[in-house]
Amino acid sequence: MIRRKGPVFCLETPNTTLVIKADTAEYLYYGKKLVSGGGFEPFFGSPRKIFSQYGGDDYTEYSVLLENADGGMSTAFAFSKCKILTEKPEIAGLPSSYGTGKTLELKYVDLPTKAALYLYYTVFDDSDVIAVSSKLVNGSKKEMHVRRLASVQLDLMGDYSFVTFEGTWARERQKISREIGKGVFYNDSKKGGSSHDRNPFVIAEGEDGVYGFNLIYSGNHKELLEQTQSGRARIVCGINDFMFRWALAPGEEFASPEAVMCYAPSEDALSLAMHAFISEHIVRGKWKKRERPVLVNNWEGTYFDFNEEKILNIARAAKETGVELFVLDDGWFGNRCDDRRALGDWFDNEEKTGGGLKHLADKIREMGLDFGIWVEPEMINEDSELYRSHPNFAMKVPGREPTRMRNQLCLNLADEKVQNYVMRVISDVIARSGASYVKWDYNRMLTDPFGKNIPQGEYFHRYMLGYYRIVSRITKKFPSVLFEGCSGGGGRFDLGNFCYFQQYWTSDDTDARERLKIQAGSSYGYPQTVMGAHVSACPNHQTGDSNPLETRFNIACGGLLGYELDMSKLTEDEMKTVAAQIAFYKENRKLLQFGDHYRLGDAFGGNMAGFMTVSKDKNTAIAVVSASEYIICGPVPSISFKGLNPSAVYEVTTREQVNYKNVLSFTAGGDLLMNAKLPLHDLYSDTQSWENSRRLYTRMFIFKKVKS
Ligand code: DGJ
Repeated sequence: MIRRKGPVFCLETPNTTLVIKADTAEYLYYGKKLVSGGGFEPFFGSPRKIFSQYGGDDYTEYSVLLENADGGMSTAFAFSKCKILTEKPEIAGLPSSYGTGKTLELKYVDLPTKAALYLYYTVFDDSDVIAVSSKLVNGSKKEMHVRRLASVQLDLMGDYSFVTFEGTWARERQKISREIGKGVFYNDSKKGGSSHDRNPFVIAEGEDGVYGFNLIYSGNHKELLEQTQSGRARIVCGINDFMFRWALAPGEEFASPEAVMCYAPSEDALSLAMHAFISEHIVRGKWKKRERPVLVNNWEGTYFDFNEEKILNIARAAKETGVELFVLDDGWFGNRCDDRRALGDWFDNEEKTGGGLKHLADKIREMGLDFGIWVEPEMINEDSELYRSHPNFAMKVPGREPTRMRNQLCLNLADEKVQNYVMRVISDVIARSGASYVKWDYNRMLTDPFGKNIPQGEYFHRYMLGYYRIVSRITKKFPSVLFEGCSGGGGRFDLGNFCYFQQYWTSDDTDARERLKIQAGSSYGYPQTVMGAHVSACPNHQTGDSNPLETRFNIACGGLLGYELDMSKLTEDEMKTVAAQIAFYKENRKLLQFGDHYRLGDAFGGNMAGFMTVSKDKNTAIAVVSASEYIICGPVPSISFKGLNPSAVYEVTTREQVNYKNVLSFTAGGDLLMNAKLPLHDLYSDTQSWENSRRLYTRMFIFKKVKS
């Protein structure tokens, strides 16, 4: 709801209020919901601005930088008009949030150049998350260049710590909290993709609560916090201005990606708001609210070394345990026997598939499994038919040796011809295999951004526009297909992608201990509904560590369950264990995948960590608790739960695990379970039977309300 009192606009969400004074472009308030209906006059003249430009006495980081036709960079955008829109405007070529709500449109004009700056704030009826974007329009008769156009600027007063989610390949989204003091800190990606290194989701944390920001964009991004000596804390988020220079001919416009922001009193409340928003206003299509299938993926089971027999053996064993979907990963096409060749050759390798993709897919479907396929559409190997016939499709700087990562080059998706080629061949793979699931991989970031006739300053963004053109068309063309994004794990795990892919491969690291952290870090900004989480073999292929099968399953229940190992090699006992796990998962799938998800303990600090998923009515819940270390003569491991109804009584049991025979069963009040620490006396009881001292000890608790 948006209420207006003269130049003042109150944007109200269920639990927050944002107050903007349009004529002076000021923020008057953003925080807990205001209910009094009182006036704002004494707060006028705020130093907190909704945008900032070069050319006045504000030297704090800018949200808008426009290069005039004469090369000058000063602007003086001043208020022109505003209106409330009932239809949320689309952002041409870019993904954005959707849903019913109201949008405030504000227009500011730079009189000497007649350039116009538009800001959009959308509030949805059911969400505390506000969507914000901006647009520049060249109203002059000469060409101008956009040098920076952030999606959102929020000015606060006071000191905030800046929380970011950083990492590397196989160690994505580790939570880091920094006291900035006075100065500027930025979190960004210049890699052409949102990156494993620094996710676009950030939080500013202060005494007044937490402010979360994210960007609906999968390319170069930048989120900065500047804290000045005069006490202003400015947050600016948007497309990265690194190497950025966008030409605007007279009459043309440039739209920023959409950002989202949310105020909440605590990190937990912020995460819940972000989760609900993503599930309702970002993820779309047939699979939005559908329970996701339990899958088996052959990657870690076979890597490139497979044939029809091996694949069918895995599928057969998987089917026996209750798996629903078989995913054929990398290696099924062209001459793809390792990662040095064949990317781009999206025709069947007859030998490895035993007679073609359709033949293999049909055999798998005959077993009663659905069939899913892996593709990496944005890439090319130099050793490929595609490269031999179209070397100019590859992204390279003329006269320079390109950088090869994983032995591959990127395709020049800024070029429409290449986009059309990719759409055609990938659509054909999906159609001819009849796949009901597609894993869309992207195994390297960009290094040689160059395309003939594409201005260098526009390249990165033009790549993204090309990418979005492709994924939006393909996902529309196959509306029943479930899409899982992937980027060497979670390298492009962002809201831009979630507008097309209903789920994402969270990380290539499938080690339970590492996964606990990666999933916990991801859960600050993203719901479990988008996180692929697989049980893999031990010793783990990334870390060499071993953890019991039950531990691996418990941790994978924090996301969308899959198995990624050669299931035909499981022992009879392991087959029984897996079958029991899958039966349990299916019985509780709705709760695990779509319940309210909380972090327990501290995955980045203490010994105890886990997660908990609570049904919307708070009648049922499942928690996974783990201790990362057995501390000799240390404190009894203990945990407090979250999200329960404090006045209800719950029957609490633990899932029987093969390594824990003594199942707990007791009743306790929701208030006690959340406020006290439950001691887990026998968490380490199987220590003697497990030789690896670095193992992760886990338990799964099941809560059922017995009394209100
Ligand atoms: C990286 C992915 O994250 C893996 O799961 C697998 O699909 C490989 N690529 C295949 O090349």
